[in-house]
Order: sequence, then structure tokens, then C-alpha cells
Amino acid sequence: MASSSRILLCFSLFIIALCFSKNLFDDTESKEFVLTLDSSNFSDTVSKHDFIVVEFYALWCRHCRTLAPEYEKAASILSSNDPPVILAKVDANDQAKV
Ligand SMILES: *[C@@H]1O[C@H](CO)[C@@H](O)[C@H](O)[C@H]1NC(C)=O
Repeated sequence: MASSSRILLCFSLFIIALCFSKNLFDDTESKEFVLTLDSSNFSDTVSKHDFIVVEFYALWCRHCRTLAPEYEKAASILSSNDPPVILAKVDANDQAKV
């Protein structure tokens, strides 16, 4: 009896944590720090910023998708750095087609 209610408690905590982390994720998503570049504005943007990190990603790349929220988080932190560090991303798959 006691152990089954503990399992239930753990399970509810897990659900609450899941909802909470989803809200956190949505918050970071609404504010985009990572610049999206393509060949038309790539060199313009890169020359404008002293410190810029560019990630070349492909939609079929699972690791890139895993990295995306972490990259966004890093961008939000680094943008308030002094001097600010800009994080940008280029859809490498898209550029390959051009
Ligand atoms: C660069 O161009 C792309 C496509 O036109 C656009 O989506 C993106 O926002 C632009 N990035 C910057 C930093 O202007």
C-alpha cells in the first residue's frame, strides 16, 4: 500500500516535471537568439559581428536536432556576454540544393 502510493507520487512528479520542462522549452523557443542565415546574408552577417559561431545543420541529422535547443540556450547566454557572441545556423541541406 505504502509503496504503491510512492510509485504514484513519483509518477505524478514525473508528469509535473515533464509539463514544466515543456513550458520552459516553449519560453526559450519564443525568443530566438540563434540567427538563421543563408547564402544571401551569410557573409554580410559574419563580417558584421566580431564573434560569431555558425552551425551548419541538416534536418535529417538527428544530432543536429538534439543540439538545437541546447544551441538556442547557449545563444541566449552568449548574447549577453561582453563582447556578445553571436550564434547562427545555416541549413546545409538547403544550401547544397542551390
Ligand atoms: C537571412 O536570410 C534568410 C532567408 O532570406 C532569412 O530567413 C534570415 O532571417 C536572414 N538572416 C538575417 C540575420 O538577416
